[in-house]
Amino acid sequence: MYDLRAIEEKIKNCRKCRLWKSRKNAVVGEGNENARIMMIGEAPGKKEDEQGRPFVGKAGQLLNEILGEIGIERESIYITNVVKCRPPNNRDPLPDEIKACSPYLEMQIEIIKPEIIATLGRFSTAFILSLYGFKPRPISAIHGKVFSSPLNGIKIVPLYHPAACIYNPALKDVFKKDVEMLAKL
Ligand code: URA
Ligand code: SF4
Repeated sequence: MYDLRAIEEKIKNCRKCRLWKSRKNAVVGEGNENARIMMIGEAPGKKEDEQGRPFVGKAGQLLNEILGEIGIERESIYITNVVKCRPPNNRDPLPDEIKACSPYLEMQIEIIKPEIIATLGRFSTAFILSLYGFKPRPISAIHGKVFSSPLNGIKIVPLYHPAACIYNPALKDVFKKDVEMLAKL
């Protein structure tokens, strides 16, 4: 069994898909390694690629703001992405990139053993729901719902992607309500 440091090394040296060629920094993830909540986004953006840290750009600021308002310390959770290197021009990650990269995420989940996985946006929601045997559905239909895995009791809560909330105050309110519900869990 790997530990998180070993996985970090593997990711930083990884060339399993084309995205290694254009990355400045792979974004492994960060936070509490004993976290009860894991938040999983899609892929690094420009700022994340520059700094090698997840959710440090505009979407990250919005996420920090909401977590702060609700009283969840960002340091208390673990945050990462399905795909660890930035897709050029922030395009959507391709199926073969998700396939190549997701074993790292699965190892991170196995080590951290969160009680709750909050998925941010449609790619991470689709990936995590299928991983635990649920049929993926549109995020608009399932955001804020709790899916309990019959395999290991892990709870999955799909959320809108914070980037989608930046210019949409109504969605931001929905996102905040969903995170409040998550905090109560
Ligand atoms: N969007 C994501 O999905 N992940 C990040 O780390 C930053 C923005
Ligand atoms: Fe490796 Fe993932 Fe980066 Fe592709 S995105 S090179 S699979 S770490």
